[in-house]
Amino acid sequence: MKVFITGASSGIGEALAHEYAKRYRNENTKIGLVARRSEHLQNLQNMLEENYQVKCAIYPLDVRDNCALATAATDFIQQYGSPDVVIANAGVSSGTLTEHQQDIAAFQAVMDINVLGLVHTFQPFIKAMRDAGKGQLVGIASVAGVRGLPGASAYSASKAAAIAYLESLRVEMLHHNIAVTTIAPGYIRTPMTDINSYRMPFLMDADIAAGKFVNVIENKRRFVVIPWQMGWVARLMRFIPPMLWDFLAKNAPHKSRINVE
Ligand SMILES: NC(=O)c1ccc[n+]([C@@H]2O[C@H](COP(=O)([O-])OP(=O)(O)OC[C@H]3O[C@@H](n4cnc5c(N)ncnc54)[C@H](OP(=O)(O)O)[C@@H]3O)[C@@H](O)[C@H]2O)c1
Repeated sequence: MKVFITGASSGIGEALAHEYAKRYRNENTKIGLVARRSEHLQNLQNMLEENYQVKCAIYPLDVRDNCALATAATDFIQQYGSPDVVIANAGVSSGTLTEHQQDIAAFQAVMDINVLGLVHTFQPFIKAMRDAGKGQLVGIASVAGVRGLPGASAYSASKAAAIAYLESLRVEMLHHNIAVTTIAPGYIRTPMTDINSYRMPFLMDADIAAGKFVNVIENKRRFVVIPWQMGWVARLMRFIPPMLWDFLAKNAPHKSRINVE
C-alpha cells in the first residue's frame, strides 16, 4: 500500500496515517506525510516506522505552495512509484464575518488552503496514476459545505467549493480509471473542534473516524458523510427551503474568529 496524506501532523490526518500503518503493516507499506510542522511529522514518522514496520517520507510544506507539492510528489513517485491513494486532508477553520475588514485575510487563507490546496495536492500525481492505469484521490470536505453556516462563511464556502470541485474531478477521472472519493465529516474530536464551546452532535473520536474513512476509501465510495447520523442531517439540510433555513440557522452558535495563517 502506498498512500500520501496531507494535514498529517494532527487530528484526522494523523489518525489516518496510524490507521493505514496498522491495517497494512506487513504489506511493504509506504506513507507520505505532509504538513507545515516538521517536528510533528518527524515524531509521527519515528512512531509509525518503529511500531508498524512501514516506511514514511515526510514533506514539511504549505499546501498553498504548488511547487513544493510538485517536488514532494516527484520525490514520492521516484522512491515508491505511483501511490494507490492520495488524501487531501489539510484544512483550516476559522469563524469569519464579512463586516470585519480584518477578516479578509482569514477568507483568503481558508479558501487557498481548503480549496486550492486540493488542486495542488492532486495535480502532480495524476500523470503517474494515468500511466499506472489506477489510483484514488480522496478529498476531505465537510457537512459545513452543504449549507451556508452563519459565522463560518469562509469555511462553508470553501467546503461547498471543495464538494463541487471533487465532483467535477470524479467525473473527469472516470476516463482514466482513477477513483475520486469525497468524505464530508460531521464533528470529529481534533484540535480543530477542541476549541468549540458549543454542543457538537454525534462527535466522534478521530481514531474511530479514521477507521471508517479507510473503509469508505477501500470501497471506492463516491460521497460519504461520517458519522452516518450526520448523513441524515446533511440530507435534510439540503432540502430545507431558504426561508426555513434562515429561521433555523439564525441563532446557531458561531465559531470563534481566530487568526489563521
Ligand atoms: N474535525 C472536524 O470535526 C472536521 C469536520 C469536517 C471537516 N474537517 C476537515 O478535516 C480536515 C482535517 O481537520 P482536523 O479536524 O484534523 O484539523 P486539525 O487537527 O487542525 O488538522 C489540520 C491539519 O491540516 C494541516 N494544515 C493546515 N493548514 C495547512 C497548510 N497551509 N499547509 C499544510 N498543511 C496544513 C495542519 O498541519 P500544520 O498546521 O502542521 O501545517 C494539520 O495537520 C480539514 O480539512 C477539516 O476542514 C474536520
